[in-house]
Amino acid sequence: MHPTREASLKEALKEATRILDLLMKPELTEEEKGAIVSESIENYTDYVNPAILKVRKSVSTDYSFVEWEDEGAVFRDTHGIEFIDCLGGYGIYMLGHRNPKVVEVVKRQLNRYALHSQELVEPLRGYLSKLVAMVTPGDIQYSFICNGGAEAIEMALKLARLSSGKKCFISTIGAFHGKSMGAVSATGKAVYREPYLPLVPGFFHVEYGDAEAVEKAIKSLTSVGETVAAVIVEPIQGEGGIIIPPDDYLPSLREICDHYGVYLITDEIQTGMGRTGTFWAVDRYDVVPDILVMGKAFGGGVMPITAIAARPHLWERMKENPYILGSPTFGGNPLSCSAAIAAIKYTLEWDVPRMAKEKGDYILKHLLELKERYPEVLVDVRGRGLLIGMEFPSDEVGFYVSKKMFEKRVLIGGTLNNARVCRIEPPAIISYEQIERVLEVLEYALGEADKEFRERKAG
Ligand SMILES: Cc1ncc(COP(=O)(O)O)c(C=O)c1O
Repeated sequence: MHPTREASLKEALKEATRILDLLMKPELTEEEKGAIVSESIENYTDYVNPAILKVRKSVSTDYSFVEWEDEGAVFRDTHGIEFIDCLGGYGIYMLGHRNPKVVEVVKRQLNRYALHSQELVEPLRGYLSKLVAMVTPGDIQYSFICNGGAEAIEMALKLARLSSGKKCFISTIGAFHGKSMGAVSATGKAVYREPYLPLVPGFFHVEYGDAEAVEKAIKSLTSVGETVAAVIVEPIQGEGGIIIPPDDYLPSLREICDHYGVYLITDEIQTGMGRTGTFWAVDRYDVVPDILVMGKAFGGGVMPITAIAARPHLWERMKENPYILGSPTFGGNPLSCSAAIAAIKYTLEWDVPRMAKEKGDYILKHLLELKERYPEVLVDVRGRGLLIGMEFPSDEVGFYVSKKMFEKRVLIGGTLNNARVCRIEPPAIISYEQIERVLEVLEYALGEADKEFRERKAG
């Protein structure tokens, strides 16, 4: 080996040892706590992506805090400074951070076996798939388990083409389905799509919330000889700005899809597992999709795991080759499955959807009052369950409000590259005392924004 290469590997071993010493220490010194912050900033600058440090939407840009430990509805920095988490990892933390019931199950599984041989039948994957079939609506039966949201969307799109033999997809403007090639083709935002054109062919986007537009698109495509495999839709657009469609939207889509022999894919990565006040957002409408995609909170806030679940007739083609759809190395691993099994139990046992509904209604009622008081800075509030959006007149005002809230130790979030609509998406286990604190801080931040932007306008 080249001597400089050998020296650099030796340095890497030294650095790994130093980092692990730090991670394994029961108590850190004040100096070490500070060093973790400054080293993290250096590492992001030199080895992750310095641009990330510049485009934070909701938190202070002085970078004196890094995330270090968490529990329930809070996380703490290295110095023990505590923040109420009202962003909830964009939906991951439905059951809170490190929910003890989920952690206990995952720890037990970790002590038994973590990943799988890839060859034998895997009991946890089987148990989880059975539970998914039991908690999803209608005759949804078979699951395909993956690791990330975009990956699950890829599987949904592939399954729709594989099973139907048809080609096109109808998606919606403003939709967010992830950033891998297929998922970003379904995504309805130019900013994520444009750099990668040409994308996967066969995707058409229509106005969200307009079922007639979907029907028109299907008719137009079929009349010129194309075939439509599926309509893909979020029950509420999250990244698009918490857009709630009319009540008859999903039932109408179901009817249209049945009429034209097109599959309906619902992306419940953000809205599932109780977030909107029902187990799945489609439950509110009694709609059974052909493919339901889940993620984020599915792993109980402890492990990354996503899945698609589909009605049995879609699985027919897989009889020929069970691996034709995909075979991700880590998909359905026992550790992640154990977390999802624990998450389903907790969600049912503690009626998490009801928690989300009651707390969401409570927050929304207070937000509507705040909107009346500060109409210049809070233009609209809307939401369902604990998926709540606050709309500001501009990105600048949204960023100002979220920064002010962060100063007072409450984290809210914008959408991926914009703060004009900010989300309040806390864990369902957040206490009413914590909610009161969030509302108090929000009121303060809106008051500050009102003053600041009035002054700016005045000159
Ligand atoms: C509705 C929806 N679909 C898909 C995704 C993509 O998931 P992932 O980021 O895990 O790839 C997200 C992520 O925010 C989402 O909200």
